[in-house]
Amino acid sequence: MKRRPDLFRSCTLLLALWACDSTDDPANGGDADVFMPELTREELKDPETCKDCHPRHYREWRSSMHAYAAQDPVFLAMNRRGQEETGGELGDFCIGCHAPMAVLEGSTTDGLNLDEVPDHEKGITCYFCHNVVDVEGDHNNPLVLAGEDGLGDLTMRGGIDDPVRPAAHDVGYSEWHDRNSPKSSLMCGACHDIVTPAGVHLERTFEEYKESIFADPVGFETCSGCHMAGRRGVAADDPDSMVPSRTIHEHLWAGVDVALDEFPDKEAQRLAVECELANGTRTFSLEPNPLGEFVVTLETNAGHAQPSGAAQDRRMWLEFIAYDADDNILFQSGVVADDEIVDKPVDDPERDPNLWVFRERLFNADGEEVHMFWEAAPSDMYPNGTQGSVLPFTTDFTTPHSVSRTYIVPVLPARVTVQLKMRPMGLDVLDDLIDSGHLDPVIRDAMPTFSMRGTVMEWRQEDGFDPVMSPERNDLRCPDDYLCLLDPDGGYCDDEE
Ligand code: HEC
Ligand code: HEC
Ligand code: HEC
Ligand code: HEC
Ligand code: HEC
Repeated sequence: MKRRPDLFRSCTLLLALWACDSTDDPANGGDADVFMPELTREELKDPETCKDCHPRHYREWRSSMHAYAAQDPVFLAMNRRGQEETGGELGDFCIGCHAPMAVLEGSTTDGLNLDEVPDHEKGITCYFCHNVVDVEGDHNNPLVLAGEDGLGDLTMRGGIDDPVRPAAHDVGYSEWHDRNSPKSSLMCGACHDIVTPAGVHLERTFEEYKESIFADPVGFETCSGCHMAGRRGVAADDPDSMVPSRTIHEHLWAGVDVALDEFPDKEAQRLAVECELANGTRTFSLEPNPLGEFVVTLETNAGHAQPSGAAQDRRMWLEFIAYDADDNILFQSGVVADDEIVDKPVDDPERDPNLWVFRERLFNADGEEVHMFWEAAPSDMYPNGTQGSVLPFTTDFTTPHSVSRTYIVPVLPARVTVQLKMRPMGLDVLDDLIDSGHLDPVIRDAMPTFSMRGTVMEWRQEDGFDPVMSPERNDLRCPDDYLCLLDPDGGYCDDEE
């Protein structure tokens, strides 16, 4: 592949693009060996520029949480409240991860003026990820982009080691992007790990990953290996380039969260999250005994705890219902209405004493529970400022990482069902933001509760007392169902129906 001479690189660095351009064109008597992309840095920064040649990547990214990160009304509310409560001390801490290009370009210093920030600098954009050339740390977004140190900011880097070079931009293989390289997990992980200004290690997805079996050579798998599924296709629809069929990688990053206000292809995003949740956790077994005791065992398939990251906001819990022969409910736990708080305070008479919930809690310097993460601080009682009961990740092949709980039904039921539920953000957290006047109450109504498909287990008395080992099959076609919504002509839709 042709390489640009260093001299030329420093030329682009000085942004004297017009000058370089004329030398590049052989018709102008320039060096035919020097490649000058057609697109300028300004153009490359805008995801809209990529749309025609990379329609699949564009459409998926556009309906991902990475695109939503600086539009997310909960983010906007929290950042605004955080700035107020800290007298502006948060500065660009939050927005530096939720709209890193806006900070790099100097369009914002605190995320409070997003109305004035150009759309193409909001969220985690194509240009931001595809320009990464170094990562100088393991938390709080220490990613370094090309151009800052003169490495060529018109090059789009990716995991393809023999890319066709389009006229539009330069291309280059990069280990930071290659799912087969451990470096790629650092690229994702260093943004998915937060230490707050008060020193609380609040989001620890990357730290957990590093301790998991997936960071070891034996069980090796990267973040993008799990979160950017590969499928056959073309990486670009560019009639001017001879582009071969390859493995291309999903750009939806479905996790737990979904868009809560107007956003493109919301239905596809929701289905993708349902798929991710259906395959993410296993209800491992339901063990009955004749006394009416039921042991439920759960296990996560994730490369980190579950929930992970914003675990202080997530609520994942088990719904357990026991019926008599006439289908009357004998005992229940974790049955929560859509507008009801999952994990009610200890002094609430309606609190479910048997609730099995997976989440983290935050505490302030006085050891009192808080919701907002700038309030979290170490205390004698909680030296880390946090305390969690999340599903543990696997550290090696021999130590089991499942967790169990026994439910006691007063009389032997005729039937028992269990299912995992997930709510991306606790309504108690949202109420806190609504009460302080920072969040519109309609956002509370938009918060979904997912019944995690594929985690339903049922036991019937007539089947005897052997443990139930396999959950009911999930009825989704993953990923075809959501890809069909995004790309109706892409061959993903089920033609039978
Ligand atoms: C005029 C068409 C065109 C435009 C516009 C375009 N690209 Fe590309 N891009 C291509 C072609 C062609 C390839 C090579 C694909 C291949 O080899 O399979 C490519 C490859 C890539 C790669 C893979 C590099 C590698 O080595 O893995 C990335 C990343 C990329 N483009 C990002 C972008 C981004 C981001 C934008 C928008 C700012 C963009 N492209 C705009 C045509 C285009
Ligand atoms: C610049 C920082 C940054 C980088 C780099 C980054 N992310 Fe993210 N990611 C975010 C932010 C911020 C969000 C949440 C946006 C929101 O919910 O408002 C997010 C959301 C996600 C989600 C969805 C989480 C959920 O609960 O729904 C997944 C999955 C994810 N990222 C995976 C990745 C992977 C894999 C990579 C590497 C290829 C990566 N991220 C790189 C900042 C980053
Ligand atoms: C959070 C970071 C991130 C963002 C944002 C992002 N990408 Fe990517 N992209 C990646 C990674 C990582 C890979 C490489 C996956 C691999 O090879 O394992 C990739 C691969 C690609 C490729 C090569 C083909 C493939 O599928 O492997 C193209 C083309 C591409 N991205 C285009 C885009 C475009 C266009 C956008 C915006 C609309 C975008 N990307 C946004 C991280 C990102
Ligand atoms: C072995 C596969 C695997 C690996 C490796 C992996 N993940 Fe995950 N991840 C999952 C599964 C499964 C889930 C749970 C499904 C869900 O929450 O929808 C998940 C959930 C997430 C979420 C949503 C977390 C939440 O509960 O709010 C984020 C963010 C995320 N992963 C980021 C990452 C990052 C960053 C890395 C690398 C440091 C990584 N993952 C490595 C499989 C993996
Ligand atoms: C180091 C990068 C980083 C910083 C700094 C950061 N975030 Fe995030 N944020 C993320 C990532 C990554 C996610 C996705 C987490 C997940 O799903 O596990 C996220 C998710 C969120 C979400 C949506 C998910 C949820 O339920 O919490 C909100 C709201 C949010 N962040 C607010 C903030 C605020 C407010 C600040 C500043 C006080 C902040 N963030 C600072 C990376 C960051």
